[in-house]
Amino acid sequence: MHSLDAFATAKLVDLDARHQLRRLVPTARIDGVILERGGRQLVSFSCNDYLSLATDPRTKAAAIRAVEQHGAGAGASRLITGNHPLIEELESRLARLKGTEAACVFGSGYLANVGIIPTLAGRDSLVLTDELAHNCINAGAQLAAAATIAFRHNDLDHLEALLIEHRERHDHVMVVTDGVFSMDGDLAPLEAMGALCVKYDAWLMTDDAHGIGVMGLGGSGSAHLKDRPAAVPLQMGTLSKAIGSYGAYLCASKPVIDLMKTRARTVVYSTGLPPAAVGAAIAALDIVESEPDFIALPIAKAQRFTAALNLPRAESPIVPIILGEETRALEAQRILSEAGFLVAAIRPPTVPAGTSRLRFAFSARHLDEDIDRVVAILREKVL
Ligand SMILES: Cc1ncc(COP(=O)(O)O)c(C=O)c1O
Repeated sequence: MHSLDAFATAKLVDLDARHQLRRLVPTARIDGVILERGGRQLVSFSCNDYLSLATDPRTKAAAIRAVEQHGAGAGASRLITGNHPLIEELESRLARLKGTEAACVFGSGYLANVGIIPTLAGRDSLVLTDELAHNCINAGAQLAAAATIAFRHNDLDHLEALLIEHRERHDHVMVVTDGVFSMDGDLAPLEAMGALCVKYDAWLMTDDAHGIGVMGLGGSGSAHLKDRPAAVPLQMGTLSKAIGSYGAYLCASKPVIDLMKTRARTVVYSTGLPPAAVGAAIAALDIVESEPDFIALPIAKAQRFTAALNLPRAESPIVPIILGEETRALEAQRILSEAGFLVAAIRPPTVPAGTSRLRFAFSARHLDEDIDRVVAILREKVL
């Protein structure tokens, strides 16, 4: 066997032995929370578009209009000819929602984090990340070649101790955290963290992939839970979850955004977002801004679920049920699938070893009776 194939095969065999091999399954999104897999229709609790806007007729119509007016692709990076008018409209809408001077969109959340962090941090900098921060935050810190230290999850005392110990030795410090933790659904203590970062002149960046559209005043995200927003100068997030489209953004001051547009490698060396994705995102923001009762539903549904199972009250649309070993999570996934529900088992390395889980993502379009049926199955056969 060619050494390349031998390498790949050995890796696959090893992952399989540890129940960590993943396989792609063809999945058709039918409507709202209904998916089709293997010829069966399932109710999904594993889609991140918490408002089911990916299949909403209004966002679909906007995407089609955008293609008709601006084409299927941007054709080049934004600095060359790919800066079509819808992109700048989307950026001003995002800045308005987040209350910042400006915004810059990126190709995806992953591309945003690996673009933003190295633009602001370098060899002489320090990047402090929450130990449960999303993989692409750590990838961004690595690409920056900055010193990187993880602080204990949501532990402000640990974060402050690290700032005291290391602040003076670095030209500047970034503190980067998820706003809503993607696998646990809990929230970062952004108000206190923002104040701490001001005290030590550290730059706080939140990844609010799971907050925009469903958390905070008018869906403006997890930095906006109170009347006065938390002091977060770098608000990053994606358009691929509640916004139901694709792409990502950074909302920040004008100088920071101007710097991104001229230096962030994933903006400069990557093609602009396709018009369809941008058009759909703008239509989704129209819905978020005009339907406050609707955008409150995902958290209300999650809270119905946590109340029924006597779990801590959900703070976001994400609720994990931690089961431990990979095999237990996979078996629970199978049991629910047989009953017509798709709930993906999440295993290492996405989550720490021994914490494999079912991760429930609630949508505004979930029916209460489906939630109640899942609760009954979990009680009877899983927990
Ligand atoms: C917290 C967080 N950040 C970033 C991403 C990546 O975003 P995208 O899917 O737009 O690349 C995700 C999920 O995929 C996420 O959960």
